[in-house]
Amino acid sequence: MRPIASRISKMSGEGALSVFAHAKELERQGRSIIHLELGEPDFHPAAPVNEALKKAVDEGKDRYCPVNGVPALKEAIAEYLGRTRNLKVSPNNIVIAPGCKIALFMAMMALIDPGDEVLYPDPGFPGYSSMTPGLGGVGVPFGLSERNQLQPDPDEIESEITPRTKLIITNSPGNPTGTVYTDEVQRRIAQLAVKHDLIVVSDEIYGRIIYGETYISMLSYPGMEERTLIIDGFSKSFAMTGWRLGYTVAPERFVPALSMLAVNSYTCVAEFSQYAAIEALRDTQGATPKMVGEFAKRREQFVRELNGVPGFRCHAPEGAFYAWVNIEETGTSAEEVCRIMLDEAGVAAIPGAAFGPSGKNFVRFSFASSTATLHEAVERILKVAGAWRPVATTR
Ligand SMILES: Cc1ncc(COP(=O)(O)O)c(C=O)c1O
Repeated sequence: MRPIASRISKMSGEGALSVFAHAKELERQGRSIIHLELGEPDFHPAAPVNEALKKAVDEGKDRYCPVNGVPALKEAIAEYLGRTRNLKVSPNNIVIAPGCKIALFMAMMALIDPGDEVLYPDPGFPGYSSMTPGLGGVGVPFGLSERNQLQPDPDEIESEITPRTKLIITNSPGNPTGTVYTDEVQRRIAQLAVKHDLIVVSDEIYGRIIYGETYISMLSYPGMEERTLIIDGFSKSFAMTGWRLGYTVAPERFVPALSMLAVNSYTCVAEFSQYAAIEALRDTQGATPKMVGEFAKRREQFVRELNGVPGFRCHAPEGAFYAWVNIEETGTSAEEVCRIMLDEAGVAAIPGAAFGPSGKNFVRFSFASSTATLHEAVERILKVAGAWRPVATTR
């Protein structure tokens, strides 16, 4: 039989989805599982968003529609980015996609030629390190280490730049660490991009989920207008994961390439969801700030309680909804810690190596669950922590 294209063997899956599948199987067998593996808000879109969806369907907005997205949604996104991120973008710079992942996939497909080097964070969202070799590119991870408060180190990034470097992928707030890049770090990355004529793909999907001051986009820095592609969408900030809605904000010269990929693949995004998305951006009920307020409470409680588990060490993330826990002092591998937690305590979390080699001694927990559920998860973990406590206490 003829083989499957070789690019597939260069890609990898997602740890979160495989842990989820195993946890679901245990649930099917009757086990009680607390799901802290998936990056999915436990909220649903506000009522006006659902109403707008129904109205759009009733009005017959269920046809093929413009490839780059319905003009009213692109205008609403441009206005929204001005209001929430202080950016001046034109609707002509926006391409709607069925989810941020597809937006990212298309941007990478439009930019990466075989042999191009791509810098991305390690640990980082698995799509970066999978898609890069899948497209024939060469992945060059830059570290987010604890000694640097999980921030990228611009000196390290600079030392990795070669004449083949084409792209830097940034992700602030980041998955899995929750790092919000400092102004200084972003400014220096922007300077490097200008100096070496690099393109920056700035994955800003968690841009609204921050616990500190105002969010600064990579697009805000001098010289970045012509070289930054923002990836964002509705999955996290508006709790619309299953709606599959994302978008790219790109310099004008990249837009025809993104349209070409859209024409040849998804054609357009469901028209009725795009109309409903306009209502989400309006957010007349303040659903996003309310959700982020709730995440802030959970973050405070969960991080504090996790730090009470023997061998666990966790800093409060500045954004997103993940606790990135160093488990080195358990004396046990992250894979084994996760296995014990799932099989013996019914708590699903992800071994950090799923996000890159630097994640080896970490576990990622999502705190997109109620405070009561998170509390119960820690109680359950404490009950099985004996499995690694002896090792930790002999140190
Ligand atoms: C950093 C990052 N980028 C992109 C995505 C994909 O988002 P979507 O569900 O909209 O495809 C995720 C989802 O977890 C993510 O964490």
